[in-house]
Amino acid sequence: MAARIAQNFRLLKLRSLANLKVRYFSEELRHGFIGMVGNTPLIRFNKLSEKTGCDITAKAEHLNPGGSVKDRAALYLIKEAEEKGLIRPGGTVVEGTAGNTGIGLAHICLAKGYRCVIYMPNTQSQEKIDVLKTLGADVHPVPAVPFDDPMNYNHQARRFAESIENAVWTNQFDNISNRRAHFETTGPEIWNQTDGRIDAVTFSTGTGGTLAGVGTYLKSKNPNVKVVLADPEGSVLYNYVKTGELKRSDGSSITEGIGQGRVTSNLNGAPIDDAVFVSDKEAVEMTFFLLHEEGFFVGASSGLNVAAAVKVAEMLGPGHVITTCLCDTGQKYFARLFSKDWMESKGLLDAIPEKYRHSLH
Ligand SMILES: Cc1ncc(COP(=O)(O)O)c(C=O)c1O
Repeated sequence: MAARIAQNFRLLKLRSLANLKVRYFSEELRHGFIGMVGNTPLIRFNKLSEKTGCDITAKAEHLNPGGSVKDRAALYLIKEAEEKGLIRPGGTVVEGTAGNTGIGLAHICLAKGYRCVIYMPNTQSQEKIDVLKTLGADVHPVPAVPFDDPMNYNHQARRFAESIENAVWTNQFDNISNRRAHFETTGPEIWNQTDGRIDAVTFSTGTGGTLAGVGTYLKSKNPNVKVVLADPEGSVLYNYVKTGELKRSDGSSITEGIGQGRVTSNLNGAPIDDAVFVSDKEAVEMTFFLLHEEGFFVGASSGLNVAAAVKVAEMLGPGHVITTCLCDTGQKYFARLFSKDWMESKGLLDAIPEKYRHSLH
């Protein structure tokens, strides 16, 4: 009898341990690559917040599993193609991309068993091309020509998808499932992580998906949240927001993945209150500040975003909560942003304070 009680007790203990384990896992478990996309931390930059008197915060989008904010769009683009029956098992995903969307797509294609074909402008970093090839994507770097040229990388991607069976051109620029990703995930995350105390968001735009999706969601929660577009050199959007004219700003930016010559379908109708222009010098200076003073190794579009957040803080005055995002990691830019010779060739060495230059190679 005593032995039976002891055995039952042992069994009960084992069962409750097992339950505990299941409960622990059911809260923490991420299901595969796709389960890893999104739910990124919100960071408060201590020094910049102290300096401005505002909470300068950013979504750590570089911590997505493919290493950039574009994993969110990539996931929604493929999900939509599947839901609409545009792709069947074993099919091919084709995209025109500056690199990061392609990397997200290539990961998801591996996880789901699709082939991935990428057309990209040949102005993008070698590191992104190398990652794409390692991920098994078929990569076509093509001359960087304007969108209205039939040889633009997007049109080449569309034509290739149309030329083969069971293939989809995911069309990140004009397929609004991209901004839906940010309306349904990034926006609610920012709202919850700031306890609804958010005053302004600012994002640079490539497709415009992040700015439009987050901006639309936050305005639906509180119409007073300010949505500010951040724009680099050589893009038309700063002037578009300020004057309604699609007129290019001076210069040509070294930032990758951002800046536009047109209003994409993802950006069209986005509730934008204002725009700030950030020069390459300011973006580079902030990228190295984030590295050396805040500890974040990120690319130049992230530096540009945070520089824009500081400008918005200066416009609004102390006491406001401002959010932007860190878009991708610095590891994709060793041969450019973190190369002394390359930065010198672009006339941007002076933008990096002397005390930070030892991290160039
Ligand atoms: C490094 C980087 N930053 C920012 C963006 C802009 O994001 P979105 O396309 O949502 O406007 C991109 C887009 O490709 C990117 O690659």
